Amino acid sequence: MFDRQVHYIAVPIGMNLKNTSIFQGLVHVSGDSEEANIYATQKMLAKEEESLILQLHSLGYERIFENCWLPINYDNYDRSSLVSSLFKEIAGNYDQLVTKEKNIGCYEYLYSIAKKKKQINRSRTLDFGCGTGLILQANFVMELEVLVGSDICVQMSQIAELKGIKIISSSSFTARCHENFDIILVSYVMHYGLNLITFMNLVNFLSSGGILVANFHKDIQLEKIIEFVNTINDSSFTHSVSPSPYGSVLEILKISDKSILC
Ligand SMILES: C[S@@+](CC[C@H](N)C(=O)[O-])C[C@H]1O[C@@H](n2cnc3c(N)ncnc32)[C@H](O)[C@@H]1O
Repeated sequence: MFDRQVHYIAVPIGMNLKNTSIFQGLVHVSGDSEEANIYATQKMLAKEEESLILQLHSLGYERIFENCWLPINYDNYDRSSLVSSLFKEIAGNYDQLVTKEKNIGCYEYLYSIAKKKKQINRSRTLDFGCGTGLILQANFVMELEVLVGSDICVQMSQIAELKGIKIISSSSFTARCHENFDIILVSYVMHYGLNLITFMNLVNFLSSGGILVANFHKDIQLEKIIEFVNTINDSSFTHSVSPSPYGSVLEILKISDKSILC
């Protein structure tokens, strides 16, 4: 039975917790031969939890989602295997873990921005980092001509697929595989961190006149992604950032049909 009080810690190979005092209280739940090991805590008293949180902060971890922890240092570790291992672990419980209204509200907000800029009635839309398909509960879904999802975690996207979303696997998500989308929505994903190649491939999925709209939970990773946007340095794209109840929102508009080389 899933327990909300349990904390999940994604530990990259090379960032061992074995020599720390919190290690005694952890259970190894998955990983080992992979690049990431996932550890879970036992149920804790409030005081023990307080101490765990302090220690994880001091060891360089951040609470990225509910009781899930990732190392803050983005540059030394490939976060994608950590993120997919973590979501693999919680995929079956994701819909119970999140405050759905918040995620659906975020989708509605991002779509309203896209709609204002695109001014079209029906559109081909990509939900990047679609998770388990909560987008299906947003009212605007009825308006879409096509809805496609993609997620780095196979287990999350399989749940979305069972609910009826067409999925592009993240392995086929490369510069060579160009489907064009009028709208790309990125809801509660950017703070996990994207690498430059993934970001460029994502932007290349925009059709001419297409728009990508993404929120940055607590503004985490905003600076990094703005750096990437500036790396594109291409007059075929414009971008802007605005505040929102869901963290800053980045809009990238593709003006012409040239694709970026990466
Ligand atoms: C907090 S969930 C949000 C899911 C969904 N967008 C929602 O609002 O319910 C974050 C999702 O982003 C996915 N994700 C994180 N980094 C990603 C990446 N680089 N590429 C694709 N998906 C990613 C995770 O696997 C997870 O399913």
